[in-house]
Amino acid sequence: MAVVSSVRGGIRLVSRVLRQAEGKPRLGPVVWVRSVSDSSPLRSDVQGVVKGVEGEHSWLCGSSAAVLETVRGHVEVKENFITEEEESALLQELEPGLKKKRYEFDHWDDAIHGYRETERLQWGSVCTGVLGRVRAVAFPEGSPLLGPVHVLDLDKAGYIKPHVDSIKFCGSTIAGLSLLSDSVMRLVLEDNSADWVDLLLSRRSLYILRDETRFKFTHEILKDADSCFSGQRVPRHRRISVICRNLPV
Ligand code: OGA
Ligand code: MN
Repeated sequence: MAVVSSVRGGIRLVSRVLRQAEGKPRLGPVVWVRSVSDSSPLRSDVQGVVKGVEGEHSWLCGSSAAVLETVRGHVEVKENFITEEEESALLQELEPGLKKKRYEFDHWDDAIHGYRETERLQWGSVCTGVLGRVRAVAFPEGSPLLGPVHVLDLDKAGYIKPHVDSIKFCGSTIAGLSLLSDSVMRLVLEDNSADWVDLLLSRRSLYILRDETRFKFTHEILKDADSCFSGQRVPRHRRISVICRNLPV
């Protein structure tokens, strides 16, 4: 079960497990991650980048045809999954709570830099409808879900370092809505960092990471300065993600 703890500001967040430098797990407000590394390859040269299969994946590119084949069926981006009105409804519910918090920048060892976050169990009717759709498309039928939805607000200067979500607290599937900004999510094979794929997460899209891509690859959200997809610049503004997860079996 998820551990709920009282953290800064008296807000109850589901704790994440972060491996610290000494290798000791720590329970705290930095959530979900089991490993963090800063070793993601820099690719100023886009030669050799392989695009997803024509027509299928305008949102997917990677280091080789083989790695694209590996992630096939285990990663999905559904563009325009929500309407502008639904995005507004989500923001309207989330902004008042988020605005009371400060972005966290100073924890250099955290997996996430320049963020504030919350979780939410109860939603208004429009948002409940949206989340129902997310759950219906993302999770296997009958899969027990983590009740509270995780909301992560990245400042324009914020980013998420490579990590793997805690296998203790989260199950096979991670599904996230992207609000306010396009961004690039990079997946890097843990066993071989030469194997990577980038996902273009357009504003109002839903991404789903399942099984292999969730367990064997690290994921990260690129900082604005590095935010490119297939050689094309993708300006990263403030971005809010609304993330649903299932429970481990
Ligand atoms: C996380 C994470 C991705 C996102 O919070 O563990 O990877 O889309 N978030 O914000
Ligand atoms: Mn994660």
